[in-house]
Formats: sequence, C-alpha cells, structure tokens
Amino acid sequence: MLEKIYHLGYAVEDIEAAARFYEEHFGVRVGEPEEIEEQGIVATMFEVGESMIELVQPTRPDSPVGKFLEKRGEGFHHVAFQVDDLEAALKGLKENGVELIDEKPRVGAGGARMAFLHPKGAHGVLTELVELPDKDQG
Ligand code: CO
Repeated sequence: MLEKIYHLGYAVEDIEAAARFYEEHFGVRVGEPEEIEEQGIVATMFEVGESMIELVQPTRPDSPVGKFLEKRGEGFHHVAFQVDDLEAALKGLKENGVELIDEKPRVGAGGARMAFLHPKGAHGVLTELVELPDKDQG
C-alpha cells in the first residue's frame, strides 16, 4: 500500500527563515510558500532525493499546527506516505479500526489528495497519506 515516503513535515515559526536556512546551508531550492486556508497553514517543499521536506507554518494560533507549535515548539510534525489509491486505503484502515482524522480525502498542497490518520492510532506519529493527481510524475 505504501509506495514511498512522500515527505516529512516540519512545523516552523517562520517559513521564510526556515527556507533560507535550508537554501543557504544545504543548497536546496525551496518552492514558493502556498497558503492552505482550510488547514490554517502556509506550506512549501524542497526535494531530498526522491522524497521531500515540507515546511509548515501556521497562519492562526488555533489551527492544528498552531496548537502543535505552542505545545511542542518547532520540529518534526508528520510523515506523509504516497499511496496509489487513497480512498481504498482509508476504507481499509477504517474497517480495521484505525483512527482517522480525515475519513474522506481532502485537497492539500499542490492539488494532491491527502488525509491524516490520528497519531493516537499510529503509535504517536501523525501520518498523512497522499495520492498524487498524476501518478507518473510521483
Ligand atoms: Co504534509
């Protein structure tokens, strides 16, 4: 079911400063931050081999990432696995009693369909499943 680690999500206080850090010290190219109003975040990515790092900054303190930052500070926030068929994956997990945050896919950064599993049901790790719009470009 899991095709690869699509990205690791880092919660940051200042997405511009975090992007500059990785550009200056690791020579990566970080994309333009994109606002995802529904999740109360701005997010951007940079490639590391065939996976990516996602930088996520909250746009409001009461968003899930805002609450995470207040409680835990900056740091690792979630892992995203690429799957071939997100609806089927969610259905199977739900049938097996795995706790989901999103029972239906929603549209995330870059137009990809995504859903979160609850960290309580995934041994403490907030887990995102992503299905890319065009699988050939995965
Ligand atoms: Co993510």
